[in-house]
Amino acid sequence: MVSRVIPVEPFDLVIFGGTGDLARRKILPGLYRRFQAGQMTPDSRIIGAARADLDDNGFRALVAEAIAEFVPAERQDKAVLGEFLKQLHYVAIDAKGEGGWPQLKALMRSGVVQAFYFSVAPALFGDLAERLRAHKIAGKNDRIVVEKPFGRDLATARELNATLARHFDESQIYRIDHYLGKETVQNLMAVRFANILFEPLWKAEYIDHVQITVAETVGVDGRGAYYDTSGAMRDMVQNHLMQLLCLIAMEPPYHFDPNAVRDEKLKVIRALDAVQPQDIVRGQYLAGDGQGGYLEHSENPASRTESYIALKCHISNWRWKGTPFYLRTGKRLRARTSEIAITFKEPPHSIFDDAEGWRENVLVIRLQPNEGMNLMMMIKEPGPGGMRLTQVPLDMSFADALGEAHQETPDAYERLIMDVIRGNQTLFMRGDEVEAAWAWADPIITGWESRGDKPQAYDAGSSGPEDALMLMHRDGRRWRDIR
Ligand SMILES: NC(=O)c1ccc[n+]([C@@H]2O[C@H](COP(=O)([O-])OP(=O)(O)OC[C@H]3O[C@@H](n4cnc5c(N)ncnc54)[C@H](OP(=O)(O)O)[C@@H]3O)[C@@H](O)[C@H]2O)c1
Repeated sequence: MVSRVIPVEPFDLVIFGGTGDLARRKILPGLYRRFQAGQMTPDSRIIGAARADLDDNGFRALVAEAIAEFVPAERQDKAVLGEFLKQLHYVAIDAKGEGGWPQLKALMRSGVVQAFYFSVAPALFGDLAERLRAHKIAGKNDRIVVEKPFGRDLATARELNATLARHFDESQIYRIDHYLGKETVQNLMAVRFANILFEPLWKAEYIDHVQITVAETVGVDGRGAYYDTSGAMRDMVQNHLMQLLCLIAMEPPYHFDPNAVRDEKLKVIRALDAVQPQDIVRGQYLAGDGQGGYLEHSENPASRTESYIALKCHISNWRWKGTPFYLRTGKRLRARTSEIAITFKEPPHSIFDDAEGWRENVLVIRLQPNEGMNLMMMIKEPGPGGMRLTQVPLDMSFADALGEAHQETPDAYERLIMDVIRGNQTLFMRGDEVEAAWAWADPIITGWESRGDKPQAYDAGSSGPEDALMLMHRDGRRWRDIR
């Protein structure tokens, strides 16, 4: 089963910050892969823009290096690369100055899709938007793509939205949350809304609780000073984990349509209760395995920023009243894993005498590693020993189930950039969604700031702070192992 690649319309994509880390690691290698797959046709162009004094050939050399470094060896192909590089151009532009804009305008073609990727610091979004309009480069059908962080609280997110809205309509703005581009995340919607199996059970009556885990083994070494101004709540929960929660909890949209899907996600965020201080645990990793601890990496010995957070939240609506959602994410943990686990309630009555070994059904959706799904089921233990029960996984690894087609699945950035060109905003956050998520997160953050709460230390390579275990234990539940 190999999925069909449908070429997108010819486009001119300008990448502001085309020489930066994100462009080199994700955007340009992603475009190369889409070109290689035949999705980006030879009449499309990519125009890099940054302050560095480069010409087309200098930019092409930089991109060739990035592809050599960030595209897996088995995908490297000299002939394809040669053709891809021909489609690349460069203009030296300072977002804050007037130089370079006429050259960019002269390069852009009419009659093709035009998109502008703001892969620069958010402080420059306003300058870019204003100059794209002032120099009459961007029109009313063109698209702009912006990256996280989208604000650091509600006030800054509103300001950023207002800045963009002065120059572009909401239908032109593509706010990237790369988690939404992940295959399994989209599969969440397919599993829920293309099968009859789960939806009747998808409610507080049958679901005991939901766990969302995004665990990383890496620390913040190298970008600690920046990270220290953010922390796990701002960096991960307000955006990525919140988006996952929305996809699990939302009502079925009337159609798989950008605004219908985003309307339903927004309702979930608005229905979230305030999180109580006793339902939040924050942590900072200690030194270990020859690596420094968070305080060292953040270059701030007095830091109160969290590299780990676990919290319990409730959604106040008919579907979810009474089902807690436990969220946790952190750095320097035991394993790199991301999963959503939906634990169903026990059957109301057991007809079996042997309740030993009894476990609830759990649907696990693995985002990484080894994307797939796992449904933990009770069956009879094989053998002549009478009616004894045991739990087994119904395991579906996408790599095994889909074979070659899975090998071909584009990564999140590839898919999202192609969606920008197609003009499909379903997997991008709308301005009101971002603001609602900050409206929920702000009081949580200001709460611990005003109380002067200090994060709890946790061992590098562990599952996080002790108190995080207690957060679930006191509800008679336990976290799934991080492995
Ligand atoms: N890197 C990631 O993995 C990642 C992940 C998620 C989100 N992001 C976000 O993506 C954006 C870019 O991140 P990055 O890591 O790529 O940053 P970076 O490595 O510092 O690159 C910044 C880029 O912007 C250009 N630039 C800086 N000032 C400019 C100006 N005044 N006018 C025009 N271009 C300018 C730089 O080139 P010159 O210095 O030559 O101008 C460079 O190409 C940021 O908003 C970041 O938060 C990054």
